[in-house]
Amino acid sequence: MDKLQIVGGNRLNGEITVSGAKNAALPILCASLLTADTITLQNVPDLNDIGTTLRLLGRMGVQSEHGHDGVVQLNAAQVHSLEAPYELVKTMRASILVLGPLLSRFGEARVSLPGGCAIGQRPVDQHIKGLEAMGAEIKIEHGFVVAKAKRLKGASIRTDMVTVTGTENLMMAAVLAEGRTTLENAAREPEIVDLAELLIKMGARIQGHGGDRITIDGVDALHGASHQVVADRIEAGTFLCAVGAAGGEIVLRRAAPGTMGATLDKLQEAGLSIECGDDWIRCSMNKRPRATGFRTREYPGLPTDMQAQLMALNTIADGTAVIVENIFENRYMHVQELVRMGAQIDIDGHTAVVTGVPQLSGATVMATDLRASASLVIAGLAAFGETTVERIYHLDRGYERMEEKLRSVGANIQRVKREAA
Ligand code: EPU
Repeated sequence: MDKLQIVGGNRLNGEITVSGAKNAALPILCASLLTADTITLQNVPDLNDIGTTLRLLGRMGVQSEHGHDGVVQLNAAQVHSLEAPYELVKTMRASILVLGPLLSRFGEARVSLPGGCAIGQRPVDQHIKGLEAMGAEIKIEHGFVVAKAKRLKGASIRTDMVTVTGTENLMMAAVLAEGRTTLENAAREPEIVDLAELLIKMGARIQGHGGDRITIDGVDALHGASHQVVADRIEAGTFLCAVGAAGGEIVLRRAAPGTMGATLDKLQEAGLSIECGDDWIRCSMNKRPRATGFRTREYPGLPTDMQAQLMALNTIADGTAVIVENIFENRYMHVQELVRMGAQIDIDGHTAVVTGVPQLSGATVMATDLRASASLVIAGLAAFGETTVERIYHLDRGYERMEEKLRSVGANIQRVKREAA
C-alpha cells in the first residue's frame, strides 16, 4: 500500500486549485440512472470513490466516459441489472445512493446493505423508512435491501435525524414519483443543493432545497442535462488547516467560500487571516494557532468532516480546546495516532479535550478513515522531523492528488509507491 513521507517544518506558500466535491459528485453520478438521456458533468474529481461509482453504474449497464479535466458523460439508456453487489458496496457506503433512482425509474432494486463502518454504525433505516412511506415494499434478504414498487407515490416524510445521503436518496426517488413528496427535517448541505440543481436541469420539480423542508412534485420522465459539480468545501478546509498548522500564505482557486462559513469562522478564531472572493480564498498564518473548541453539527454548523483536521490544528495551539463530535459515535480514530506524535488529547465519550503542545514530533502513523488520514498529514506538515502516513488509500478515496497539491505550495511530501515501499 502506498505511503506518504512528510518532513515537517516547511511553510506553505502559493496557489492551490480546489477540486469538485466528492460528496456532491457521488449522488450526482447516481442521478444519471434517472434518465435514458446523456448527463454531462464537469469538475468531477479523479478519486477512487468516483472510480468505484462508475464501476458500479457500469455493472448495471450505464455507459460512462471519464475524460480529462473532470468531464464525465453518462448514459443509462440500457440498464440491464438493478443490483449493487456486496463487493462494491462494502468498499463504498455511498453505493446506497443507487437505491432511490433505481426504484423510482425501474420499480425495482437490489442493493447490498452496507455493513458497519470505521466511524460509526451508520444504518440506512431512514432511507428505507422514507421509501416505504412512498409505497415501496422493502425486505432485507441475504444481506440485500430488496425493494419493489409499481410506481412510487408522493408522501410526507420526516426523517428521525438529519441525514445527508438519506435526503439525497429520497429526493432522487421522489422526482419520478406520482404526486407531491415533502421531506421534513431534510439535510441542508451544499451537496444536497448541488444535486437538486442538477435534477431541476433534468426536468425535476423541486423547491426548498437548502432548507429543512424540501417539496418535490413528481414528473413522468427526466431528460439529459449538463452540470458543474460544486467545489469541495472539505478539501478546501483541509488545506486551510494545513496553512494554520504549518504557517505561510496560500490562495485557493475555484473554491466555494459561500459554503464554508462555519469552518472559516473557526479558522479565524484560531488566528488565521482570511479574505474571500466569490470563488477564491486567501489565507495566511504567521503565529502559533489559538486553541478553539467546537461541536460538530449538520450544515450550516461545523462539519464532522472537518473535525479531525481542526483537531490536528489544535494539537499545537496555545491553550486547551474542547471538541464534541455530535454526528458519528466513533470518529476519533486519529486521536491515538496524534498522541503518538506528541499531542495531548483526552477522550471521554463524544468529547475530546486537546491541550496544545509547542510542537509535535514526526512518527509513523496510519488511520482508518479519510478525514483522520488528512489530520495526520496536517500534523506531519507541522511536526519536527519525518512523518510516514501509512495506508493512504483512504486519502485517495477522497482527496485528488493531495501530495502534489501540497508539494506545489512548498511542502516536503512524497508518495512512496507500494512496489518501492
Ligand atoms: N443515520 C441513521 N440512519 C440513517 C441515516 C443516518 O441512524 O438511515 C445516522 C448516521 O449513523 C449518523 C447520522 O445519522 O450518525 C448522520 O449520517 P448521514 O446519513 O448524514 O451521513 P451519510 O449521508 O452516510 C454523508 C457524507 C459523510 C459525512 C456525513 C455527515 C457522503 C457520501 N458522505 O454521510 O462524508 O460525514 O454525510 O455530514 O455524502 C466523508 O466524506 O469523509 C464522509 C464520511
